[in-house]
Amino acid sequence: MTSTRLKKNNIIQHQHHEYFRVMERSAVASGFHRNYILCASRAATSTTRLHSLSSLRNFPSSSLRIRHCPSPISSNFIVSEVSRNRRCDAVSSSTTDVTELAEIDWDKIDFGLKPTDYMYAMKCSRDGEFSQGQLQPFGNIDINPAAGVLNYGQGLFEGLKAYRKQDGNILLFRPEENAIRMRNGAERMCMPSPTVEQFVEAVKTTVLANKRWIPPPGKGSLYIRPLLMGTGAVLGLAPAPEYTFLIFVSPVGNYFKEGVAPINLIVETEFHRATPGGTGGVKTIGNYAAVLKAQSIAKAKGYSDVLYLDCLHKRYLEEVSSCNIFIVKDNVISTPEIKGTILPGITRKSIIEVARSQGFKVEERNVTVDELVEADEVFCTGTAVVLSPVGSITYKSQRFSYGEDGFGTVSKQLYTSLTSLQMGLSEDNMNWTVQLS
Ligand code: COI
Repeated sequence: MTSTRLKKNNIIQHQHHEYFRVMERSAVASGFHRNYILCASRAATSTTRLHSLSSLRNFPSSSLRIRHCPSPISSNFIVSEVSRNRRCDAVSSSTTDVTELAEIDWDKIDFGLKPTDYMYAMKCSRDGEFSQGQLQPFGNIDINPAAGVLNYGQGLFEGLKAYRKQDGNILLFRPEENAIRMRNGAERMCMPSPTVEQFVEAVKTTVLANKRWIPPPGKGSLYIRPLLMGTGAVLGLAPAPEYTFLIFVSPVGNYFKEGVAPINLIVETEFHRATPGGTGGVKTIGNYAAVLKAQSIAKAKGYSDVLYLDCLHKRYLEEVSSCNIFIVKDNVISTPEIKGTILPGITRKSIIEVARSQGFKVEERNVTVDELVEADEVFCTGTAVVLSPVGSITYKSQRFSYGEDGFGTVSKQLYTSLTSLQMGLSEDNMNWTVQLS
């Protein structure tokens, strides 16, 4: 197929998608149930005119025929894409009238859930194979009370982000790294998991279907939350017989209420996040429930979050509840090494690679709590957090402060390099971003 024809087909598919989406919203507004998809009436389809979005907006719902949709909308219906290297030539918005953004105050978004249009679900049967996934309207899911995830915590999650560029294109950051991490976690948790290709395709499909929820450039990002859950019923302790892979998304701003201002941490000396041989090194849901108690106590005392120590010696830094930690001393950057009790953060890995590419010495090693006294700068990294400067750390009632009310020089340089890359403001020499159009 020639590229012009391919593009034309993609445009037509996209316009179809917009056509149905607008009709669906129009019908929902008119009181129809969301689980029905809308079909144009014969009269409308026979002409199959591809209305511009503005004309569709005024499409009267009385001229729509409603068909019950027992199964969710196939992702193939929504998006057709051709991958070329790392570029995804999916539907081209630059040539269509699809500049629409959701109507929310983009200046006021924080890291809270905002329901979007679609989520993606893919089931895995007993044979361990994931079937073709499907988009469906965002909403509650049915789950058996005996599901493995509810009873025994057999579940994993991931987090990644999509950014909208000035030119309207969308950037994902290293999505295959999340896919690999989910596969590693699944192995530890005795779960089957989607292939890297299935994972990445599902992320692209979900992001494109929720495109109007991707914040304008500079206003935030679309947080993508893939989940892998044991949804089959079990009573005796055993791996669940069935699994669901699900992705939902939400537009987000800064993770900490401090925004990009420095956060204040307290070193936790009683509670521990992970143990050797445990699951601290994978992104299982239970790791996050386990930190809520210490985090709540710390927040009640006015701290932003908790910094954990290793449980054996109570001496080595591990990580903060939701992110990894780095210290800078005399321009040498150090971070706790990955040894099973620390989450192998993708932002952590990226910062290490960016720093090394800029000539910094980066050490992955045991970092002692005593080193906090002498550190010039401390910062945290994570998908949600991005790179957050640490203003102070309190350890056994002693408070150590860093920087003067802002980013240290090294932290600032790394923050700027990483975020420019993620938002498409600098050339992607690392080949980390995946562009969707
Ligand atoms: C992320 O940074 O994406 C995470 O998964 C951490 C979560 C607690 C928000």
